[in-house]
Amino acid sequence: MRIKQLVILGLAALAAACSQTTQTAQQPQAIDAVVYEEVVSAPPVRAPSGMVVASNIMASQVGRNVLRSGGNAVDAAIATGFAMAVVHPSAGNIGGGGFMVIRFPDGRVTAIDFREKAPLAAHSNMFLDENGEYSRDIHHNSHLSVGVPGTVAGFAKAHEQYGSAEWSDLVQPAVDLAGEGFTLTQSLAASIGFVAGRYPQYPATVAKFANNGLPYEAGEVWRQPDLANTLTSIMHHGRDGFYKGKTARLLAEEMVRGGGMITEEDLARYEAQEREPIQGTYRGYDIISMPPPSSGGIAMVEMLNVLEGYDLTSMGHNSAAYIHHLAEAMRIAFRDRARLVADVDFVDVPIEHLTSKSYARELRATIDDSRAAVSAPEDIQQPYESFETTHYSVVDGDGMAVSVTYTLEAGYGSKIVVPGAGFLLNNEMGDFNAQPGLTTATGLIGTDGNLARPEQRMLSSMTPAILAKDGELVAVVGSPGGRTIINSVMQVILNIIDFDMNIQEAVDARRLHHQWLPDRISIEAGGVTPEIVAQLEAMGHTVRVRGSQGRTNSVMIDARNGDRLGAPDSRAGDAGAAGN
Ligand code: DON
Repeated sequence: MRIKQLVILGLAALAAACSQTTQTAQQPQAIDAVVYEEVVSAPPVRAPSGMVVASNIMASQVGRNVLRSGGNAVDAAIATGFAMAVVHPSAGNIGGGGFMVIRFPDGRVTAIDFREKAPLAAHSNMFLDENGEYSRDIHHNSHLSVGVPGTVAGFAKAHEQYGSAEWSDLVQPAVDLAGEGFTLTQSLAASIGFVAGRYPQYPATVAKFANNGLPYEAGEVWRQPDLANTLTSIMHHGRDGFYKGKTARLLAEEMVRGGGMITEEDLARYEAQEREPIQGTYRGYDIISMPPPSSGGIAMVEMLNVLEGYDLTSMGHNSAAYIHHLAEAMRIAFRDRARLVADVDFVDVPIEHLTSKSYARELRATIDDSRAAVSAPEDIQQPYESFETTHYSVVDGDGMAVSVTYTLEAGYGSKIVVPGAGFLLNNEMGDFNAQPGLTTATGLIGTDGNLARPEQRMLSSMTPAILAKDGELVAVVGSPGGRTIINSVMQVILNIIDFDMNIQEAVDARRLHHQWLPDRISIEAGGVTPEIVAQLEAMGHTVRVRGSQGRTNSVMIDARNGDRLGAPDSRAGDAGAAGN
């Protein structure tokens, strides 16, 4: 009865939730919905020393407090990440994974890969049902969709290598937020009410996100005691507090209960990896971003190399010519991504070639300035994904910059809360290809590189990025949004470099997306005039409008005085910048 009531209330809350922080999938809409809107941005948040910008202001403040008490940007990023697991549960996590890109004050760069892995028992046909047919449900919404989580190992590795504060001081704020609770905003109350009402088959999920079976109201205090206990164990025992002992046992038991594969051995074997970032240049700026298992850095540098050959400034921001050239670069890069990019620990990826200026010249020669190409005949479509993941950016007083994007994959991941441990599990296995050779018109790719194999990491689009010029830090950028991430991050960079926007304008400006297949441009509602749409259609493009694309919480350095300029994405209701 209570569950039923929750479902109804949860559904009623969905509209609010979609338009605010939950960023649920937005399908492109009919073109007559296009109405151009001028974007007027607030000024960025300014501070002289440090800045943290995340999709929840409480988490930004946790990071800022770490900077204030002498921690560096890596420390602040770790504390922000643990806090996000409490206050932004749809994407902030300890049961998921992600990437951290770091630039040190002396210009050195590195990246920490804490992407989830396939369990030891994984195999390429694991998403088939008992009739041998591919099952989208198994792939994306089951215990088999859960990858071995990486977040806690990633934060522990980042701390061990580059942190300076006490580990316990970085986890304690999250323990407090979970144990003592915090006041729910309207959008968060609506969002957790929705998930509690929608998944009665997972009692621990309902128990976490509902108040004795009833939805929480805005203004109520929300406590997460099981999560507080798990975080306390991580605070005392570091990564072992998650990957061994009680937490690992509870997770493995839930896998057995629900037919999943992850064992205590899988957890004990998980290792975060330090990797060399992808580095490119664009009009004299250095671009630093994530290597495989993310496709983000490669695809973004490939596109920027292609676009460097055009005078985008003269074309005008979001003009038909601009959108056309971006869409053609996106079409090519997403084709290469689908065909060639996967976990480098398992597959040879031609990184040098894909990110070279000479390859970009060849690609440019194939682009017609006034006619859309047609995406390849293999008819491999890629589905739109949900828009839950989260990005935050940190800069400290010394100029150390940290760019973190991490995720549970879908909003609230698999929706499975580990009973007794209070945290959500990801559904990241859905980022592996479905089945060998299965390429369909409805969204599946059957190429070999990104098939599920024991301990392989699934391909990602997350693109935490850092921009520098002449040895100086310029900006820290990133976004959620599935495959749109790469294009959202690139457009913030273009807005800074080609259109001289301030960081808040660069973040807020309307964005577009093309991902090779489906062969269409989607543009955020309000982003273009009907005349521009007509010009694009005359060139052979299919154009659709969509809801918001990405949440690019960013930081930029004011070149005149070194101030940190924080730009929370105005699309994210609870986002905020906290400066120091
Ligand atoms: O790693 C990836 O690319 C995806 N699992 C990210 C998912 C995502 O961004 C969904 N929503 N924002």
